[in-house]
Amino acid sequence: MKPERKKLLEQLKKADLKADVPSVSEPNAEFLHNLVLSRQCTSGLEIGTAHAYSTIWLGDAFEKNGGHLTTIEHSPPSFNQAKVNLYRAKLEKSVTQHQGRAQKVIQSEFDSSTKYDFIFIDGIKKSTLEFFEIASPLLTLNGVIVIDDVLKFKSKMQSFYDWIENQSLWTYSIEKLDKDDGIMIVNRS
Ligand SMILES: C[S@@+](CC[C@H](N)C(=O)[O-])C[C@H]1O[C@@H](n2cnc3c(N)ncnc32)[C@H](O)[C@@H]1O
Repeated sequence: MKPERKKLLEQLKKADLKADVPSVSEPNAEFLHNLVLSRQCTSGLEIGTAHAYSTIWLGDAFEKNGGHLTTIEHSPPSFNQAKVNLYRAKLEKSVTQHQGRAQKVIQSEFDSSTKYDFIFIDGIKKSTLEFFEIASPLLTLNGVIVIDDVLKFKSKMQSFYDWIENQSLWTYSIEKLDKDDGIMIVNRS
């Protein structure tokens, strides 16, 4: 990654910690970045931009792959802050932002024939099952879905665990890359 972008990410992480914005940890962000690069993903979707810390990590990888990232954020102030940060990262051409509830935005603003080979779910935990239900039909055949913070907030996403453990179309594994929490990788069976 270009040093200026890396420096910006360090500043954003500090600002997020100070303002209590729950952005992904640096080890998880690096893991997501490498996953996009190693799978040569070219079309990404993120639910939950916040101030764009994860979006910049992901956007950098999609830009390197000659691809594009689409990200959705519900909160207007966070959407606006993310816009500024993506501009500072010089990623405004590689990332498209949408403002609104992902469930509604995907239904009303997305073209259902556009598919994504990488989907990152990082919105409010209690809506994880809803996010999965609305986003998974947009996944390419060999695409992957990643969900952040799946251990610490397990009780908040119990409906998702109940669902995924009682079906056979999807398989999942959990990567524990930092002391804080785990990240779930979901693939088609
Ligand atoms: C955990 S934070 C995202 C952190 C970000 N991915 C990062 O690592 O920098 C969750 C974000 O999801 C947003 N959010 C919550 N519900 C949402 C929804 N239904 N649709 C889109 N965004 C949502 C919140 O406003 C919040 O900014």
